Amino acid sequence: MNLNNYNKLSSKNIEDLKLLVGSENVLCNKEQLEKYGQDETEDLMYLPEVVVRPNTVESLSKILAYCNVNIIPVTARGAGTGLSGGALPIKGGVLLSMDRFNKILSIDTNNLQATVEPGVINYNFQEEVKKQGLFYPPDPASWGSCSLGGNIAHSSGGPKAVKYGTTRDYVLNLEVVLANGEVIWTGANTLKYSTGYNLTHLMIGSEGTLGIVTKIVFKLIPLPQQNLLMLVPFTNTELACKAVSEVFKAGIMPSAMEFMERDAINWSIKYAGEVTFTINPNWEALLLIEVDGNDLNMLMNECEKISEIMQNHKCDEILFADSAEQKNALWKIRRKVGEAVKSNSIYKEEDTVVPRAYLPQLLKGVKNIGKKYGFQSVCYGHAGDGNLHVNIIKGNLSDEKWDNDLPKGITEIFELCKSLGGTISGEHGIGLVQKNYMPIMFSKNHLNLFYQIKKVFDPNEILNPGKMLP
Ligand code: LAC
Ligand code: ZN
Repeated sequence: MNLNNYNKLSSKNIEDLKLLVGSENVLCNKEQLEKYGQDETEDLMYLPEVVVRPNTVESLSKILAYCNVNIIPVTARGAGTGLSGGALPIKGGVLLSMDRFNKILSIDTNNLQATVEPGVINYNFQEEVKKQGLFYPPDPASWGSCSLGGNIAHSSGGPKAVKYGTTRDYVLNLEVVLANGEVIWTGANTLKYSTGYNLTHLMIGSEGTLGIVTKIVFKLIPLPQQNLLMLVPFTNTELACKAVSEVFKAGIMPSAMEFMERDAINWSIKYAGEVTFTINPNWEALLLIEVDGNDLNMLMNECEKISEIMQNHKCDEILFADSAEQKNALWKIRRKVGEAVKSNSIYKEEDTVVPRAYLPQLLKGVKNIGKKYGFQSVCYGHAGDGNLHVNIIKGNLSDEKWDNDLPKGITEIFELCKSLGGTISGEHGIGLVQKNYMPIMFSKNHLNLFYQIKKVFDPNEILNPGKMLP
């Protein structure tokens, strides 16, 4: 049994890997290793010993079989946009870059399905299926650069998840290479599946710890033809949060219901360099609300009802996006918030999620915990999902407070999530940076089940070691 002591790769190991995948697809120089040693998580960097870039299932299978026999850690990486450190090779070893698995293999317009390789970029896939009048809804903020394989690793969401669900809801079947090199399909290409343990759903969200996905069969839906977008400012943050659940209670299902604190939008406007409207200094929070469908009159009706609800919660003047350009500009500002916060200060991002109607309690609790431990936070996210990204800003906080007090504050935030019926990550995953908080959510017995599942799939613990489980 491996006790997580891995030998350093020998030059023979590297030569063997070159034979398996071609020497041009094995990268060893320092600059290359540094590029693959980080993702978008804070400022973390862990160098792999070697980067291997296969592009066929056969060669990937041979690489895993080889690493399994030689007990070499293998950390898979999509596009490196993750926010929980899932793709960081913390034990060294092989960094398995999936970027050459970048083909859309088929779009089946008869069954409304597509088969793709995991290295395809989310946005490119969306654009391709759109040409056929089809829609793949999961749209993480990083959609222009994140890969579909990475989306599967964390069951990524995005603004559209509120109406359409997350990545999980669109995966029908997966081709997976297991730790020993064996290749399996996890399910069937069907909309229904009641045939034994569902390994497809076990793989989704498993962050590269159980197997490596090499093909994905996605379900697609017809592309809605119309959408309307409105930006609703509030001088009272709590009322903004309260208004969110009222929209759903009124029988309306928006295709996006996003929340941003004033700092989030201000920083993003500055960062994106595109001021399309003026932020009133009295505004404390904004909601960005979209509805979509095929009947424009119906959507306008829904917007009227939403406006009424917002006014009942004392919103300021609502801005309706009146052109495709304005919609794009508003979405760009929303999508850039995360990057903008990162460029502003050292920070820690938490991906809290609670049942939607408890959003006001969550936000209030986060701010109170901040006051107790002396940290400032910028919050934004998918309000309609009760999914609040809490960005804790280092600002002037001393290193000592940052290192010692912050984990206590984060623990309290996560305990609050749990007490409200929520959890510690909605869409960013656990990876490296949240794994020590897992006991807040799960009992010893529960975690033990996780360990045993891991052992069945990966007895030598070569797949993304040191992740997800404390
Ligand atoms: C967002 C990413 C950080 O919603 O999940 O912007
Ligand atoms: Zn998000």
